[in-house]
Amino acid sequence: MARIIDGKEISRVVREQVAAEVTALKERGIETGLAVIIVGDDPASKLYVSNKKKACESCGIKSFEYALPESTSQEELIALVRQLNGDKRVNGILVQLPLPSHIDEQEVILAISPEKDVDSFHPVNVGRIMLGDYSFLPCTPAGVMELLARSGIEVEGKNCVVIGRSNIVGKPMAMLLLHKNGTVTICHSRTRNLADVTRRADILVVAVGRAGFVTADMVKEGAVVIDVGMNRKPDGKFCGDVDFDNVKDKASFITPVPGGVGPMTIAMLMKNTLTAAKLQNGIK
Ligand code: GUN
Repeated sequence: MARIIDGKEISRVVREQVAAEVTALKERGIETGLAVIIVGDDPASKLYVSNKKKACESCGIKSFEYALPESTSQEELIALVRQLNGDKRVNGILVQLPLPSHIDEQEVILAISPEKDVDSFHPVNVGRIMLGDYSFLPCTPAGVMELLARSGIEVEGKNCVVIGRSNIVGKPMAMLLLHKNGTVTICHSRTRNLADVTRRADILVVAVGRAGFVTADMVKEGAVVIDVGMNRKPDGKFCGDVDFDNVKDKASFITPVPGGVGPMTIAMLMKNTLTAAKLQNGIK
């Protein structure tokens, strides 16, 4: 039976550390602020945004919420982003994705000042990740790395397999594992003999968005299994991409859903916002 990696608890510790630093900044007269923009009424996005707001409160970070109607034009949204780029109270800007289909996401991301891009989606920050020289890490992959580190799991020299090649998770995840000297393979929907590849993984990170996608026969005995999936079941509850009940008997470590990677994503957003505030005030 695998050890369950408790993302809820680890994220609490991270948030506590962020809160202590936010308080220390406050004592030097520096307030930390995060602007969160949501466009439209997508219930999942609304839930994420409300969780981000709560996390800000728990860390002493001031949150500025902009809930815009679905009908907002790209120009209006970009005008708001530009206004926030110039707003000294705002250290981080997050535009919740996905955006309505009439808005070009990439254009909006490009409008965010890279210094305030706490999601690390701007091409400048994406490039810095490639180079291994970065201030902000994309929140979900950074959360996974934090879970591994705080669980005492070494990456160096290990076979790391990432399933999923999204810009938000799969690609940066592979880079961060590579920076820690893992031997990294990225799998995707066109990968042949997927199970043969995943069975070689010492560390398997799954981000495909399909409930129960990874079954026990795809996992090596003693592997570390990290489940980034968040799928809603017909009963309204959430489950991951991994068949947890069967895989847990084979893995050495496994993350549950919920309570694994999810809370870490938000904790890392808080950490990035703190980093932004420090950088913008010339503090290392
Ligand atoms: N939508 C789903 N995940 C994310 C995220 O990490 N950041 C933003 N901005 N939108 C998202």
